[in-house]
Amino acid sequence: MFDVNKIRKDFPMFNEYAFGKNGKKTVYLDNAATTFKPYSVIEACDKYYKEESVNAHRGDYDLAYKVDTKVDEVREKIAKFINAKKIEVVFTSGCSMSMNLIAFGYGFKFLKSDDEILLTEAEHASNVLPWFKVSELTGAKIRYIPLTKEGKLTPENLKKVMNEHVKVVSVAQVTNVLGFKNDIKELSKIAHEYGALLVCDAAQSAPHMKIDVKDLDCDFLCASAHKMCGPTGIGLLYGKYELLKKVDPFMTGGGDNARFDMCGNVAYLEPPAKFEAGTMNLAGIYGFGAAIDYLNSIGMDNIERYEAELHDYAISKLKTIKDLIIYNETADSGIITLNYKGVFAQDEASYLNSKGICVRSGEHCAKLLKDVLKTPATVRVSLYFYNTKEDIDALYEALKNGGNFLDAYFN
Ligand code: ALA
Repeated sequence: MFDVNKIRKDFPMFNEYAFGKNGKKTVYLDNAATTFKPYSVIEACDKYYKEESVNAHRGDYDLAYKVDTKVDEVREKIAKFINAKKIEVVFTSGCSMSMNLIAFGYGFKFLKSDDEILLTEAEHASNVLPWFKVSELTGAKIRYIPLTKEGKLTPENLKKVMNEHVKVVSVAQVTNVLGFKNDIKELSKIAHEYGALLVCDAAQSAPHMKIDVKDLDCDFLCASAHKMCGPTGIGLLYGKYELLKKVDPFMTGGGDNARFDMCGNVAYLEPPAKFEAGTMNLAGIYGFGAAIDYLNSIGMDNIERYEAELHDYAISKLKTIKDLIIYNETADSGIITLNYKGVFAQDEASYLNSKGICVRSGEHCAKLLKDVLKTPATVRVSLYFYNTKEDIDALYEALKNGGNFLDAYFN
């Protein structure tokens, strides 16, 4: 049974960090930026450093073999988590690196000047800037799928801009500011009808819902472990195997090749090893495996259900605050983006901080969205399954009283 109070005991940030310092309870509502880590994840990283701290894929001794086996097991675990094959899962440093790998390894290699890349104005910088680079290097054109007035991406709007020049459609499954869930399955179908690839940025979805890459039929998918209770500096790239075989390695070096000679001939290993040059973040991989186990032990369906309940509770309360503008009341995730009338977002965040509430403010790396929202900055509240109704109540009580910048000082 889902018991949030029991769950919170799994996290040192709730038990050991000075939550309650200065007599104030800290309320963490910045989970879209990163999430807390349970003891099991920290212990798994620790185990690598304390008990198995040797390199992988290079050593001919028992301990090295143990680490090789662990890397393999975690890859298998992640593959199961997203319903992929083990050989379709590449370890990267996180979602940004995964996106860059696709952009440079696939986009730079295959796109030409009359090709088009489709994005939306709601994308995170990690899903925009690598494509800008590809466009600069290849001449391929970047175009934007129109969003609805609310900022949603619909299959109908994708259809309106699809044509035979489009080679890549790259969109988030859940956008990081508005929190709308995109119908990746339908979007993939449309992209494929025109022979284009669908790249799915799952940074804000993989932590919160079941992902099935086979069902979504996306061509590539990226996620970061740190947003899913795992360590920082480790993430995943999924790619359909036939595509991964065609992608060039984004970085090369030790461990990704079978041989090379003085004339520059290189025989790269098959994916995923081809993309994993250099010593990998092994402690991160141990921790990523533990994070997947932890999320599985809670159950992704439970996580999604509980967060939806918490989101509805939050909206029902926040809606009653007269001067609060909520930009995404109907979001299908735990992301609530708002402003208090007449208060600059960063001032509001400072004010909330004075009440012990952690949120993010500004543009949230989605710098094209300000023209859609018609505001330069917003306050973003983002929930995870360890948040409680009491956290929402604290937010409500604070927001109810405004957020004048001076309030932060005189608190
Ligand atoms: N990508 C993270 C966010 O949206 C950091 O906050």
